[in-house]
Amino acid sequence: MSYKLTNPQENQDVLLEIKNRLDIIDVVSEHVVLKKSGKNYWGLCPFHKEKSPSFSVNPDKGIYKCFGCGEGGDPISFLMKVNNESFFEVISELAQKYNLQLPSYGNYSEKVELRTKIYDLNAEAAKYYKDKLLNSPEAKQAKDYLEARGITKEVIEKFSIGYSLKQADGLMSHLMDKSKPGFDLLDKAGLVSKKSTGGGYCDRFRHRIMVPIQDDKGNIIAFGARALEDSQNPKYLNSPDTPVFNKSRSLFALYQAKENIRKSDSVLIMEGYFDVISAHTHGLTNVVATLGTALTEQHLKILAKYTDSRRIYLAFDVDDAGINATNRGAEVIKNVFSGLGSIKQFDENFTASGDINDRTSCEIRVISTNTGKDPDEFIRNEGIEAYNNLITQAPLLIDYQINRIIKSKGLLDNPQTKSHLVKELIPILAEIKNSIIMDEYIELISKRLSVSTESLAIEVKKSLQNLTSEKKIKIQQQTNKKMEKHLQAQKNLLSLYFINSDKLSNLCINNYLKEVNFTDPEFLIIKSKLETLTNETTDTDGLISSLMAKLADDDKAKQIAVDMIVSLDNIKDLDEKYLREYILENIQCSNQHQTFIEKNKLKDDYHSAKDDEMRALQLQYKVREMVEQSKYRLETINDQKI
Ligand code: GTP
Ligand code: MN
Repeated sequence: MSYKLTNPQENQDVLLEIKNRLDIIDVVSEHVVLKKSGKNYWGLCPFHKEKSPSFSVNPDKGIYKCFGCGEGGDPISFLMKVNNESFFEVISELAQKYNLQLPSYGNYSEKVELRTKIYDLNAEAAKYYKDKLLNSPEAKQAKDYLEARGITKEVIEKFSIGYSLKQADGLMSHLMDKSKPGFDLLDKAGLVSKKSTGGGYCDRFRHRIMVPIQDDKGNIIAFGARALEDSQNPKYLNSPDTPVFNKSRSLFALYQAKENIRKSDSVLIMEGYFDVISAHTHGLTNVVATLGTALTEQHLKILAKYTDSRRIYLAFDVDDAGINATNRGAEVIKNVFSGLGSIKQFDENFTASGDINDRTSCEIRVISTNTGKDPDEFIRNEGIEAYNNLITQAPLLIDYQINRIIKSKGLLDNPQTKSHLVKELIPILAEIKNSIIMDEYIELISKRLSVSTESLAIEVKKSLQNLTSEKKIKIQQQTNKKMEKHLQAQKNLLSLYFINSDKLSNLCINNYLKEVNFTDPEFLIIKSKLETLTNETTDTDGLISSLMAKLADDDKAKQIAVDMIVSLDNIKDLDEKYLREYILENIQCSNQHQTFIEKNKLKDDYHSAKDDEMRALQLQYKVREMVEQSKYRLETINDQKI
């Protein structure tokens, strides 16, 4: 579906309102872990693979730019790109989020309409399930089960826990009576399943404890449903992925936990619904769970938004699956946070108390219980005090990993096992950025393994050298992608439009730009837009957002515009003298290229005209004239007043 500007003014109003509410840092943080450095924020680019951050966000200008792959734009283009959606779809979702009407677009996008319907159905379903749990005589078994697990009335309310009847169409007929949603919609919402025989639909969830899964705004996006009988398979039945539910980017109890994650500046990630429910029951409320999936990058990025120190505790089960989940989680963590320079666990500034305002680090710790297979069992058997102690003593991820690797090898009674063990430890050590901490760990490990610190250090160094040469190749590849010099110059010249008019009038800029032969189609588009826009406003920020809006559909031109905006900081504080030198240099650079092309063309002509003496002379004269002219042009510009 495409959007039409049937009433430009009304559309502008909605767009403006949306833009006013959008905060680029908020938007990007959902997808990229950002670190502040100077005025800008930096992170790993979500649009190409990289290990060190070249993706920057400028909160003042409301734009992002990746210096690695060149991608850039405003919050709306970020959402379009990252969610692979059209302009209209993005605007539609934002309008829904902020409760704004979209007058001239007619309706919201189909996708948004569908989502709204599913939210409503899920909310109604949750109400129905809870009502059944609390009021239906058939729910006795479910009630007893929850009581036996220590789940209180308050917690049932807090999480809106419910019960689905054994009946095949309990929910279905309830919803049909209410609003006749149609089976197709119920199916899309994941609330019904196709009957295995005889056609038609039945309730997806039957005779289960129903746990609603909410998004961070409290919308119910899915259900987790626990079996009540051992014979029921599977033990947990979740909603399928639907237009509102994607399990790899949803976290159970985030809605209930987010305030406390903020307050305590830390979060615990567990494996199971009931681990989290149990923790919340006992007053430990900064706890969330993944939904039967491994920890993903999206999970971490979402959580990083709520804890400034990124203090994340992995509290998975202590069985093999849980240990694997911790190790895989560690890999994902490395991908998400790596390259940010100061992962706290390796950082020289690391202290037990930590600096809460330091947004540059992360602190990953691992909680493992020695009794009970999961946090729920541990808390119920040993009490919440004992669990809180485990939290206080939780080792840093690096220490946990080193320990685990050393323990896994058992007796180190021959050189081969030892060297094998060292090989496994090296990648962990190689990530320590600070040499004092590195020395400490080398010392520690060499003692434990009885190997010399020297040979351990040599092994680490070898592996580091390999890493560095990989990096060099990458930088080379990046610089090759850079823009040609004369285009760079032309881009610099177009940026002049953004500079405050006190220093440089519009007329003056136009005069300068007359000297430049823009040929690149994107540059021509930007130039013509800027020429018109600067008649309406000279305010830099206003100009930027109007230009971005005008280029919304032109990816290539937008990239270039963002490039221009990003590099504005370099020139906006130049005083008149230097600004003028800067302008002249760029004009010269652009014109040199132009002259070079023209000369080459004349040379070719000259060769083909060799036999025609008259024509050859003419051409010779033309070349000389051209050179003179370009000299003269530069001199006159030089005299021009800024
Ligand atoms: P309880 O027995 O209720 O305490 O569950 P648990 O959390 O101890 O169970 P387990 O460790 O087996 O599972 C942890 C989490 O994995 C659950 O909360 C579910 O999210 C998920 N899970 C477990 N079993 C299944 C299953 O059969 N299907 C699906 N989709 N997810 C499951
Ligand atoms: Mn359990």
